[in-house]
Parts: sequence; structure tokens; C-alpha cells
Amino acid sequence: MKKKSINIGIIGFGTVGAGTAKILLRKRKELERKLGFPMVLKNIADLDTKRDRGIKLSAGVLINNAQAILNDPEIDIVVELMGGIHPAKEFILQAIRNGKHVVTANKALLATEGHEIFKAARENRVDIGFEASVAGSIPIIKVVRESLVGNSIQSIYGIINGTSNYILTKMTEEGVDFASALKEAQTLGYAEMDPTFDVEGIDSAHKLTILASLAFGVPFSFKKIYTEGITKITPLDIQFASEFGYKIKLLAIAKQAGKDIDVRIHPTMLPYDHMIAGVNGVFNAIYIESDATGSQLYYGRGAGEMPTGSAVVSDIADIAGNIKTGAADRMQRVNIPAHSGLRIRKIEDIKTCYYLRFSALDKPGVLSKISGILGSYNISIKSMIQKGRKIEKAVPVVMMTHEAREKDMIQALSRIDRLSIVSEKTMYLRVEGGEN
Ligand code: HSE
Repeated sequence: MKKKSINIGIIGFGTVGAGTAKILLRKRKELERKLGFPMVLKNIADLDTKRDRGIKLSAGVLINNAQAILNDPEIDIVVELMGGIHPAKEFILQAIRNGKHVVTANKALLATEGHEIFKAARENRVDIGFEASVAGSIPIIKVVRESLVGNSIQSIYGIINGTSNYILTKMTEEGVDFASALKEAQTLGYAEMDPTFDVEGIDSAHKLTILASLAFGVPFSFKKIYTEGITKITPLDIQFASEFGYKIKLLAIAKQAGKDIDVRIHPTMLPYDHMIAGVNGVFNAIYIESDATGSQLYYGRGAGEMPTGSAVVSDIADIAGNIKTGAADRMQRVNIPAHSGLRIRKIEDIKTCYYLRFSALDKPGVLSKISGILGSYNISIKSMIQKGRKIEKAVPVVMMTHEAREKDMIQALSRIDRLSIVSEKTMYLRVEGGEN
């Protein structure tokens, strides 16, 4: 007897939609062998039905009307890959109300409206798969939510935006300027529709919201995550970082500190020998420290058609298997863990080491003025470089500090930047992987 298929409808035929369709169609037989039942890609909806996505679809599969998928009683799983908040949110809620399971890669939507979506899914006893929303091909949602359930996670350090890592790598290794590196990342299909999401750290913050909620049991708190992007990073800072033995990476950090957790995204200096410092190009990596396992590193492609499509297909297969075994809302137990009581610490209260680049006149007494102010805020200098000598012109003076409180650093820099011997706003970067 022919086994009944699980029917799938995809909404959104962009980069990830095309990757997902290619895997479902090209590996139809292999998937059936592995799962024990067929999965059928019944429809794909997109407003653009003309553009060539490098895949041949049977007649009638590609349609321009998402409602036909949402209201089709034969479709079991709706895969939302259109991105953005509206109408993706309304489509997902409609699918849930119609009793359909949902797979999405939409981190922006989950990070901002996740509670409403998970609540609706729970009430309607359907499942939500979102593996592709964080770190592309790396199965990190499954790891944090399921594989590490017996652990208390102490910290997560991650490079979780492929575009910004691609840009920083190109700037570091090839001396390419920011704009052309971004353009390449867009052409390769890594960047978000609005690339400011990538370079301003917003995409990383969306992903960290999801990870921190699963790992630390804090409500989805996108707005509370301190977010700083890579647009202010100059070739000069990359070069100084290298002279001190560091690389600059856009790092997502979530770590427990007593009853608080630090949850933040910012360009970070990492020692060359730190495992994450060697993660280049579009690759993502997530380094997790937890009590039972110790340290673990997860590494893989964080963006792109096929890597992200692979994560979407893993969710589809998981949910399809659950439908077949009558446990279709299996993941609802753990998608939003109960609140642990941990609070997100304000950025002013974090303690870390810093890199400081002053633009100061090369005159007697300048250094003692700067270091005097730093000292008065309890900030201790670890090492220093001054480059060049230009009488009456500012030169870069670069310092690495010992651990200091952010609040003190901000106040000290605001006083230093008002000195007449300092010609530009001081550049500062946080440092991880050293004494903190
Ligand atoms: N724009 C994202 C990135 C895509 O560059 O990582 C994957 O979420």
C-alpha cells in the first residue's frame, strides 16, 4: 500500500526558499528512505513567479497566492521563508489557527513577536520549527534546547552573522574596504533584505534573543540586548588589534554572572589563539561552556541558500516524523522554557578589558593627563603603543586596559574627549578571552 505523504507548502521563494525546495526535490527519494514515508512539496508561493532560481518545478507548484497554501486542507506543514514581520506574522498565525505546523527561519519575527506565536501554537497544539533562524546550517537550536538539557549553561560566545564576519575577514585578510566586502556578501545571498541589520548587529541580536531565551530561561528580550555593529571599525583598528595579538569579531555574548546574565552584541577583540578568532568568512561558530559537558564549539556555514535550506529541511523532517507518530506538538514543551528568574544586566554594569585608541597631540604631559583620568576611574593600563611623531598633529595612542567597569570607562572617556590635546572621539572596543 502506498504510504500517505506529508504535504508541504513554502511561502517565500528567495534564497532560503530556493535552497529548501532544491533539497526537498533533489533528495526526495533519499529523504523517503531515511524517514520511511514520502514528503511532497505541494506549493511554493511568491509574488515573483518569473525569476529563475536555478530549479525546475512541475507546473502549478509555484503560485502567487499565499492564501492558497494557508487554507489548503491537504497541506500539513507551512514553511514561512518570506522574512520581515508583516505579513509573515499574520500568515504564521493563520497557519496555526488552521491547524498547520510551521517551520520558519524568521529570527526577526521570533525575537520580537515570538511569545505570541509560541502561545498560539501551544493553544492550537501545533509545532514551530525554527532551527534555520540561528546560525544557518549549525543545529544549535537542537543542541541548546535538547542535547544540553542536562547542563546549566554558563556562557555562550558566538559569531552568528555570516555577513559581518565575511566583511571583517575580507578587511583583515585582503585589506578590502567595507563597502565592497558588503556588496560581495549581498551578491552571495548572505545579507538580509536590509543589510543594516547585518552590519549594525541587529540580526545577531535577533538570534541571540532566541539563544539566550532557550539557554538561560529569560523571556524573549530583544530590546534589552545591548547592540553595537561593525560600521565604526577602521583598518587602523584592525591593524592595531593585530599588533597586540588580537582579531576583531562581531561577537554575540550571553553569560551568567550571579543572578544576572550579560547579553550583548558588539565588535570584540579576541586573542589570536581563541577558537572563535579563527572563524572566518561566512562561517559561524558558537562556543558554549556548560557544567556537565565543559566547553564545546559548534562551527559551520551561517548563511546561504543550501546551508540554511538544510536547517529548514531538518525541521520539516522532524515535524513530519512527529505527525506520523502522533506526537506532532512534541517540541512545544521546550520551545519556551519557564522563566529562570535571571535578569539581563545593563551594559553600564558589565566588567571587561578594553582597547582604547586616542587621537592625541604628541606633547609632553599628554600621556600623564590621559592615564591620570583613567586612574581616577579605577582603570588600569596593561600595555600601550604610540605610532609616529607629528608635532602639532594628533597621532594614535593605543592602550589595552585591565578589567574595568563600563560605567567608569564611559565617564573617563567623556572627560578625556573634552581635553584640548585630544582631537577626535576616542575609539574603544571590548576585549574577551583574556583575564575576564
Ligand atoms: N544575514 C544573515 C547572516 C543570514 O549574514 O548571517 C543568516 O541568518
